[in-house]
Amino acid sequence: MSSPKILLKLTVNGESRQALVHPMARLLDVIREDLGLTGTKEGCGEGECGACSVILDGSLVNACLIPAIQVQGASLRTVEGLAGTDLSPLQEAFLHHGGAQCGFCTPGMLVAGTHLLEMEAVHDEAGAREGLAGNLCRCTGYVKIVDALLAAGEGRP
Ligand code: FES
Ligand code: FES
Repeated sequence: MSSPKILLKLTVNGESRQALVHPMARLLDVIREDLGLTGTKEGCGEGECGACSVILDGSLVNACLIPAIQVQGASLRTVEGLAGTDLSPLQEAFLHHGGAQCGFCTPGMLVAGTHLLEMEAVHDEAGAREGLAGNLCRCTGYVKIVDALLAAGEGRP
């Protein structure tokens, strides 16, 4: 017998949201299917690729590994919450440096990169590469992504 659903209440990109979900539903599925925020992608589904990166109560996490029950009352930021009326500086830098190619990894890269910038953890190329080590990209070879992250960290386009 499957467990009864719970009413999950959380703050998503600054807005109060709720959804009736199974307690062990993956946060990734809640985000995409129940909250309708399809910017967060599924890659491996096993915590290896970072495509599903979101910021949960200030920490960078893989949404494919987290059950809904763990996020009751939490504050969640997804890629949809990064831009205001304008693109964020990191999004602008991705555009300028060609950091997105097929784009599959891009939402996770942007979320992880934003978290690094907010932690003031981007000081040089080695640090940027290490900071993005949990996010896999098969297209860009990371050079353009790292260039974009460094540029955003230095406040240039
Ligand atoms: S889909 Fe979550 S880490 Fe790959
Ligand atoms: S742009 Fe294609 S996987 Fe990163």
